[in-house]
Amino acid sequence: MHNSHSMQVSLAGLSLKNPTILASGILGISAESLMRVASAGAGAVTTKSIGIEPREGYANPTVVEVECGFLNALGLPNPGIREFAEEIRKYRSDAPLIVSVYGFSPTEYAEVAAMAESSGANAIELNLSCPHIKGSGSEIGQDPEMIYDVVKNVKGAVEKPVFAKLSPNTSNIARLAEAAEDAGADAITAINTVKAMAIDIDTMKPILSNKIGGLSGVAIKPVAVRCVYEIYEAVRIPIIGCGGIRSWRDAVEFILAGASAVEIGSAIAHGDLTIFQSIAQGINSYIESKGYRKVEEIVGMAHES
Ligand SMILES: Cc1cc2nc3c(=O)[nH]c(=O)nc-3n(C[C@H](O)[C@H](O)[C@H](O)COP(=O)(O)O)c2cc1C
Repeated sequence: MHNSHSMQVSLAGLSLKNPTILASGILGISAESLMRVASAGAGAVTTKSIGIEPREGYANPTVVEVECGFLNALGLPNPGIREFAEEIRKYRSDAPLIVSVYGFSPTEYAEVAAMAESSGANAIELNLSCPHIKGSGSEIGQDPEMIYDVVKNVKGAVEKPVFAKLSPNTSNIARLAEAAEDAGADAITAINTVKAMAIDIDTMKPILSNKIGGLSGVAIKPVAVRCVYEIYEAVRIPIIGCGGIRSWRDAVEFILAGASAVEIGSAIAHGDLTIFQSIAQGINSYIESKGYRKVEEIVGMAHES
């Protein structure tokens, strides 16, 4: 028998009815679609990444299905925080609303985060894998000092929990997680997409208009599990696992690696929202079958020797 009470998790001060969360970028562009996902059973929902100004994004093709996942380079199309604030205000659900934020400088991230918070966001997730940042040209997502500065600025501007979403496109993700924790991040989300590309052999050209994009879906699951495992050994703040989760078994693997909750993206790209409920129920049955009562009790269990 499904016991919903034991599925409840507390995540960096948020209360989730179960540990499944809608990942950023999929169905997260309107209050209506976010509420649809919440009522389908997600423990929390994350918006598409929002910046200070509206952006059109890149020309098509921006998403292509590959052997074991999706490749995308959308170029962060979004309406900008002033317009999106209206969607945040319209959102009504007991599933917390996490607003994903990006910027081109630490102060810009803080500005967007503050506006998201004042519009009603329950938490802020920082998309720290934006390709370029004003002045430096380096990738924020690979630079611990830049991550520290962004998190510190945002923490100085908001009261609500701040999650640092990291990119796997780095040689040492644990060091980036430590930088985020040092700056006061309340949780780490791992991971964003893995840099990848596909070439059309008929036209002999890269398929995506941006040429290089990010790989998501089943192919990246083992990379994501490794990242969560490494981060768990480096920080004390909670970790939200993300990457290729399609079933409760995948979710349990992330929890055993050290995740307190999981985000699901590509698996719902085809629109099947029952996945949140079936993953939550599967985790619950697994926990009971192993003789535990709460998700918390098995977080990071794979680290015990
Ligand atoms: C079409 C698409 C758009 C995405 N847009 C965003 C985004 O705006 N911000 C972000 O932080 N991650 C974005 N992501 C990354 C996902 O949130 C997630 O980290 C990644 O896809 C891995 O999870 P998955 O394998 O379950 O999809 C996007 C992914 C896809 C497939």
